[in-house]
Amino acid sequence: MKKNLLVLTLMGIIVFAACTKKASPGKTVKQTTYATDIVPLIQAKCSPCHLPTKGGRKADFENYAGAKKYGADMLARVMLNPTDRGFMPFKHDKLPAEEIAIIKNWVDQGMLEK
Ligand code: HEC
Repeated sequence: MKKNLLVLTLMGIIVFAACTKKASPGKTVKQTTYATDIVPLIQAKCSPCHLPTKGGRKADFENYAGAKKYGADMLARVMLNPTDRGFMPFKHDKLPAEEIAIIKNWVDQGMLEK
């Protein structure tokens, strides 16, 4: 009886080890960065107002430092309802959930530059 338990425990350990080993290689967590993910989104959805080179006169998101400074505020504003005060993008439709998720991931991951 004791021997059976030992065998079972050993088998359990082997199966567990095999499974965890299989899961780790190739598992890459995609990092959301300003350069790759945020710039295209800003250019598509926050233009021209937040892009000084396009004549925008609002908070400058065209450079990393500026975007980083307002990161949390950007997220808070795109999550509002279009009828709420402070909603962004100003006078435009609410961003699709995937785009809000991109901004959220970026903020959650510490607003990486690239
Ligand atoms: C049509 C012009 C326009 C667009 C497009 C626009 N904004 Fe704005 N944004 C404004 C205006 C006007 C203000 C200032 C009024 C206010 O604070 O509510 C502002 C202010 C902000 C602020 C506060 C900045 C500060 O100085 O405190 C944030 C953050 C912001 N916008 C984020 C965004 C994001 C993110 C997008 C794109 C998804 C966006 N905005 C798109 C016009 C725009």
